Amino acid sequence: MRAPFRAVMITGASSGLGAKLAALYAGPNVALGLVGRDRERLSSVAAACEEAGSTVRVGAIDIAEEAALLPWLGEFDRAFPVELVIAAAGISAGVDRDGGAEAAEITFKQIRVNLLGAVQTIAPLLPALVARGRGRIVLIASVAALRGLPYSPGYCASKAGVRAYGEALRPLLESRGIGVTVVCPGFFSSRMTDRWEGPTPFLMSGEAAARRVKRGIDRGRRRITFPLPLALGMRFCDLAPAALGDAILRRFRFHIRAQ
Ligand SMILES: NC(=O)c1ccc[n+]([C@@H]2O[C@H](COP(=O)([O-])OP(=O)(O)OC[C@H]3O[C@@H](n4cnc5c(N)ncnc54)[C@H](OP(=O)(O)O)[C@@H]3O)[C@@H](O)[C@H]2O)c1
Repeated sequence: MRAPFRAVMITGASSGLGAKLAALYAGPNVALGLVGRDRERLSSVAAACEEAGSTVRVGAIDIAEEAALLPWLGEFDRAFPVELVIAAAGISAGVDRDGGAEAAEITFKQIRVNLLGAVQTIAPLLPALVARGRGRIVLIASVAALRGLPYSPGYCASKAGVRAYGEALRPLLESRGIGVTVVCPGFFSSRMTDRWEGPTPFLMSGEAAARRVKRGIDRGRRRITFPLPLALGMRFCDLAPAALGDAILRRFRFHIRAQ
């Protein structure tokens, strides 16, 4: 299914890419379901979308908590049959500043929010989408899904999972009238990027990233990956002999400050 979408559900809508996509999709005759944890930021995004003419429902929900997310999703979909779902919520972390191992709990948390949270957002909506035979599912992965980076193993694992889940759903759902778009962006400015200490090659503004993602979604793209040089670099590191890829990526040193 391609734009225009009359009912759009977005996780991670209280900030960054999700908030910007909410603003871009807002307008008359568009119902928006916005999920995030921070009530205050979520309310201000919702107010701007209402100002633009949208009917908005907000869910101040931790997507890792199925018991809270599931009923909210069901209620929103019954009121406004979802035509576009964007799983954008995400967190990032990595190894200590001294380059030691990532604590297991930090790895688990990223997998719970980024991967299981995306599955918990999408899977409950699938029966209704399939029954209606229309809709589009968008998963925000990352170029970090293309090859594991030594300083953020949990993030890369979670995003590789998101990407693989989306790539698996797409051929399965296409014949049922449902499109799937897997997004692998490189660096763009956001609260998440503010915590990044290290190089940010080809950094783009959050606004430019959101416009690029929206354009791809509206055109029904199966994949949206940018910027090309970064994606090619990650692909090269994946396809090259492991020792060479490891040596290159070990030099790409960074630290992600705790939230
Ligand atoms: N920034 C980049 O360079 C970059 C590059 C590639 C991919 N990405 C991905 O793009 C997506 C958006 O990130 P961003 O850069 O825009 O970061 P951001 O500004 O920090 O936004 C992250 C969003 O996810 C929400 N979120 C986090 N944990 C959540 C949870 N447990 N339950 C519900 N919502 C939760 C946050 O809500 P609260 O603040 O209300 O908790 C916020 O709305 C993420 O999936 C990220 O991994 C970012």
